[in-house]
Amino acid sequence: MTQSPDKSFTLVTGATGKTGLRIAQRLTDAGWPVRIGSRNATPAFDWERPGTWAPALDGMTAAYIAYVPDLAVEGSLDVIRGFLDAAQAAGVRRIVLLSGRGEPEAQACENELMARDFEWTILRCSWFAQNFSENFFLDGVLAGEVVTPSGLAADPLVDAEDIADAAFRALTEDGHAGRLYEMTGPQALTFADAVAEIARATGRDIRHVEVPVADYRAALEVTGLPPEYVNLVMYLFTTVLDGRNTPLTDGVQQALGQPPRSFAEFARRTAAEGVWDPPT
Ligand SMILES: NC(=O)c1ccc[n+]([C@@H]2O[C@H](COP(=O)([O-])OP(=O)(O)OC[C@H]3O[C@@H](n4cnc5c(N)ncnc54)[C@H](OP(=O)(O)O)[C@@H]3O)[C@@H](O)[C@H]2O)c1
Repeated sequence: MTQSPDKSFTLVTGATGKTGLRIAQRLTDAGWPVRIGSRNATPAFDWERPGTWAPALDGMTAAYIAYVPDLAVEGSLDVIRGFLDAAQAAGVRRIVLLSGRGEPEAQACENELMARDFEWTILRCSWFAQNFSENFFLDGVLAGEVVTPSGLAADPLVDAEDIADAAFRALTEDGHAGRLYEMTGPQALTFADAVAEIARATGRDIRHVEVPVADYRAALEVTGLPPEYVNLVMYLFTTVLDGRNTPLTDGVQQALGQPPRSFAEFARRTAAEGVWDPPT
């Protein structure tokens, strides 16, 4: 594929998070101008403050959308509509949207983007391997015990490095506009499988513990988390991991022309970086 002659100016939302950080790094390393989309950047970008969107989009010709907390939450479609309006008004031409598999609410946001006059690419992803190393389950891994609700289906965890590679290509190359890449890793893993792989890679004793769904919810509630966050976490476990996302897809191969990175490779790499070293 050939590189576009004019380098776009890209707003990367979630630029301090699991995918955005890697995408911003790739763009910067390759000499493409990037604006960091973060509540702590200047100008600030905040999904909860629409007034920050136009300043963050000013002068941009491309954008990477990683909507937080999740496209599956109530009201996400209105936010995405508003953001796309602002992007259109700013003159953005190319949009890469990070989406989730098996979430009808996320698919409504995808449809909204597809209906617009952008060069769009959608990365519809399964759960990220980095949920075990950058948040969500990191504390459990460090404590030697990862607790989840019982009865979760296996999921083909995808490596955020593959997502970042695909986003980088879609933002910088021709040939990805109008494409929806459904991206998974190469193997469906249960939580027990994934935790065992991390235990192998680290040489540490790390257990996976299942508790009844109601007990898991109750444990979240007593921590004082906002009810909408508790609902989202339970939705991601019980709906998204009900088996609908277990089948593998070839989106990584389609986007990158190479097979997806495996969870075992992710685990070895991350263990070598010391991320899972026992707390001292
Ligand atoms: N994690 C998964 O397994 C998975 C799977 C499929 C799809 N997805 C999708 O990926 C997206 C991101 O999820 P993630 O888990 O990877 O999170 P993440 O990107 O690691 O989340 C952290 C990022 O979100 C930013 N952020 C937090 N609150 C914000 C706000 N109010 N306004 C603007 N930015 C905000 C943070 O920026 P600052 O703190 O610097 O402002 C940081 O860059 C979601 O749409 C999710 O549905 C995730």
